[in-house]
Amino acid sequence: MTKVLVATEKPFAAEAVEQIAEIFNNAGYECTFFEKYNGQDELIAAVADAEAMIIRSDNVTPEVIEAAKKLKIVVRAGAGFDNVNLEAATKNDVCVMNTPGQNSNAVAELVLGMMVYQARSHYNGTSGTELCCKKLGIHAYGNVGKLVAKIALGFGMEVFAFDPFVAKKTIEADGVTVFDTVEELYSTCDYVSLHIPANEHTIKSINYDLLSRMKPNAVLVNTARKEVINEDDMIKIFAEKSGFKYVSDIAPANKEILLQTYPNRCFFTPKKMGAQTAEANINAGKAAARQIIGFLEKGDATFKVN
Ligand code: 3PG
Repeated sequence: MTKVLVATEKPFAAEAVEQIAEIFNNAGYECTFFEKYNGQDELIAAVADAEAMIIRSDNVTPEVIEAAKKLKIVVRAGAGFDNVNLEAATKNDVCVMNTPGQNSNAVAELVLGMMVYQARSHYNGTSGTELCCKKLGIHAYGNVGKLVAKIALGFGMEVFAFDPFVAKKTIEADGVTVFDTVEELYSTCDYVSLHIPANEHTIKSINYDLLSRMKPNAVLVNTARKEVINEDDMIKIFAEKSGFKYVSDIAPANKEILLQTYPNRCFFTPKKMGAQTAEANINAGKAAARQIIGFLEKGDATFKVN
């Protein structure tokens, strides 16, 4: 019997767990849910027999790959795969996939939710501002960025985007204005929402140069990865621009300092929660299960990233 380990330190919703289990049961696979575990050592011990793995933001380090001697495939139920060591996976002939688009709507809804929360003074009852007629800049127009644009247009926002990897025409067809430079996006918009992955090109790329171009009262929204922000630079910007605000579901390392010093100008959810909806868990989890079966039974390598 093929053994699958669903290693989710942050568990899927119960409905998703049931539906993933059903897919594997029907395929005759043995599926174990390994949830809320404590640290890498426990994960390393748990992977020994696994031929396939489903993960979320769980770290698949070279040690995990080495310990999983039977492993053939890891599917990241979600978009970003910066938590998987692709080099080690490739070296050990392990296929790595993601499930693009499956949890995007949950993230996009959270973006707008956090924007409203910030615009309405953290719901403290004082007079806030409206999103309608404000300019929103979408930094990277992938699955999430596209949905953020759609919802923001519904709020009556003017939507702009920068993404050198997506054809201008495709973005413009959504009623979104495209900027040719990232600098223009940052200097023009009242809100900038980040949707870039964390990789060697983007880590710490949201730096002083970009942030200093933002409008005096601009709001930066980050549901992407905390690593893309240059946190030292952002601290300087908080001090220099008295209206600058930052909201994120992936709190920076210096979150306590920011929250104490600028309580009205930042907000961080207690845990990463962009994709924390039953719907996103079901969609991404089921897609991951099907991709594993498709790969092991038919060699279907769609969504392979290594
Ligand atoms: C993703 O890359 O898909 C999101 O960051 C969601 O991450 P999560 O599955 O850990 O919530």
